[in-house]
Amino acid sequence: MTANSVRAVAMGTAMERVDGREKVTGRATYAMENDAELDRPPLHGWMVTSRTAKGRVLRVDASDALDHPGVVTVLDHTTAPRLASTEDRELAVLQDDRIGFRGQIVALVLAETPESAREGARLVRVHEQAEPFSATLEGAETYRPDSSSVGSETDTEQGEVDAALAAAPVRIDHTYTTPHEHNNPLEPHAATALWRDGTLTMWDSTQGVHRVAATLAPMLGIEPERLRVRAPYVGGGFGSKGPPHGPEVAVALAAMWAEGRPVKLAVTRQQMFPLTGYRTQTVSDLRIGAEPDGRIIALEHAVTVQTSAIKEFVEHAAVPARMMYAGEHRRTSHRVASLDVPVPSWMRAPGEMPGMHALEVAMDELAVAVGVDPVELRVRNEPEVDPGSGNPFSNRRLVDCLYRGAELFGWADRPVAPRATLDGDWWVGTGVASATYPANFFPGNAARVTALERGRYAVAIGAVDIGTGARTALLQIAADALGVGVAEVDLAIGDTDLPFATVAGGSSGTGSWGTAITQAAQQFRADHGEAPDPGVQTTSTAQSYPDTEHLAMHSYGAVFTEARVHRWTGEVRVPRMLGVYSVGRVINPTTARSQFLGGLVMGLSAALFEESVRDPRFGHFVTQDLATYHVASHADIGDLRVEWLDDVDERATPMGSRGIGEIGIVGTSAAVVNAAYHATGVRVRNLPATSDAFL
Ligand code: MOS
Repeated sequence: MTANSVRAVAMGTAMERVDGREKVTGRATYAMENDAELDRPPLHGWMVTSRTAKGRVLRVDASDALDHPGVVTVLDHTTAPRLASTEDRELAVLQDDRIGFRGQIVALVLAETPESAREGARLVRVHEQAEPFSATLEGAETYRPDSSSVGSETDTEQGEVDAALAAAPVRIDHTYTTPHEHNNPLEPHAATALWRDGTLTMWDSTQGVHRVAATLAPMLGIEPERLRVRAPYVGGGFGSKGPPHGPEVAVALAAMWAEGRPVKLAVTRQQMFPLTGYRTQTVSDLRIGAEPDGRIIALEHAVTVQTSAIKEFVEHAAVPARMMYAGEHRRTSHRVASLDVPVPSWMRAPGEMPGMHALEVAMDELAVAVGVDPVELRVRNEPEVDPGSGNPFSNRRLVDCLYRGAELFGWADRPVAPRATLDGDWWVGTGVASATYPANFFPGNAARVTALERGRYAVAIGAVDIGTGARTALLQIAADALGVGVAEVDLAIGDTDLPFATVAGGSSGTGSWGTAITQAAQQFRADHGEAPDPGVQTTSTAQSYPDTEHLAMHSYGAVFTEARVHRWTGEVRVPRMLGVYSVGRVINPTTARSQFLGGLVMGLSAALFEESVRDPRFGHFVTQDLATYHVASHADIGDLRVEWLDDVDERATPMGSRGIGEIGIVGTSAAVVNAAYHATGVRVRNLPATSDAFL
């Protein structure tokens, strides 16, 4: 027990979601469902987007649109309210005539009904002047991005990598690619905005209300306290709802134009593809030099990705190779091409997901090359300290995850050779991969505790539950921190009127917010004792942070899959998946399990289906709905099983927990293609692993 230790009574129990009933009965109000709070009927916005990838808007002809019944106005770059700052070209919506990618917002129709707005948008004629553009990563010139875009060093180098690789008895040297992938939460991006008395209120489908306010207020030229953002319920978020995107600025500008009247703007599924971020394609050049027994001598992971010319974002896929396995000589790098394409952004485990895909397939290739079992190969390459930083690991239990997973999965029964098992017309194989995700902790979170009547407490923090169950987990944390039952706590979240909270991203939410709640509760008890007078309150900002300067803090996992590949059609089925994780204390087994399962499903989906296809002639994604952008459906999922190790990591957070939202997608796609290799002997190095790869 450390000084920070808290009791765990509610924590660790499989409490049902406190908002489950509201959600399944349709009473939970999402960003477009706040009519009861609006005193005037809203205007409805519909975005008109550019058809050229680069160029100028010459003229927006709205005459036909304005003649259409119900259309109130058409805002364009000559008529929209001005922003105070236009530095961020993704967010500087309708401010000038420049077009930076196909699908950019070039006009916004406001109408009395969504139908009128949509028809009005169809009637707007945008005259555009096209300029030469570049939308293809292959062959594009690349540059070395700044470390601020990578989130850590852009490149690293230790030892004599080239010499060690050249001298290594065993070498793996391949290129692995992952495609563009798009976030597709059930609820697309949407917002309602109301500008009244110099204050803007937004109901936004976002992962971070305070982040939206902090980003947009200075752009709109208003004080942050004049921008209230609310997100009581959010229908899913995988990163695209982390930072605000163009549509949020568009609806804010429309609300300012409509002064006093609310404006609703729903981003269509199709419009999300260019406008709300995506995971870019990645190219991983991976070289491993090893001893004949599989021990790694040298490792190089060189990543090439693309960004948008109007705003830089780098998928930091070479980062996990810095800490994952032992080896004296190591080089990692990121290079990026600037293209005239939509702006990339976060998607579940940005960096770790594609990076670990490449590394974990390469490890499988190494296992085959040296004839060592893939589980054993990983165990042999356990580093004693973090090879990148030299810091000790705080709680590295990868080996426990691998061995426990192997036991549960029945790994020992596996034939060594690939293409060894044919069951009817199906080749059958099994595969494994490691998973990891950093224990991110975002500073600055604050919470407020107020004593109510009859021994009850109100706890408030501007966090957002994007569907993860965070509202329930935070309630459990608050109850334990106050030493009362969960029924004694009223929890308020999802509003910038509540104390500052960081974004629901980087698997940091529950840990970072929960730390603030725990410390506010401790401060409250210090201030007001065990029997406080109703009405007294304490607001405090989290003060203690995990010591990531001296400790390498990560979560770990091992994913095992069975793949069946049809011998004549190449169809791949995955009847069994198992993930075993080490993530510190699990606050709520029910909601945590759901996060892991969702991550595994999304990893399977990435392995076999997901791919956004860009048409190089026009620079846009032609796959822009769920009919063409395939995600795993129920029929694709077989027996999914998740377990976690009994862990408490009080060096990470006072609750002993680390994050769990993203690790489930890490390594999973590699486990699937490794199993497909074991089934067929066909090595797939480019995702998705579609049928044609096996024929
Ligand atoms: Mo996640 S990509 O940090 O929302």
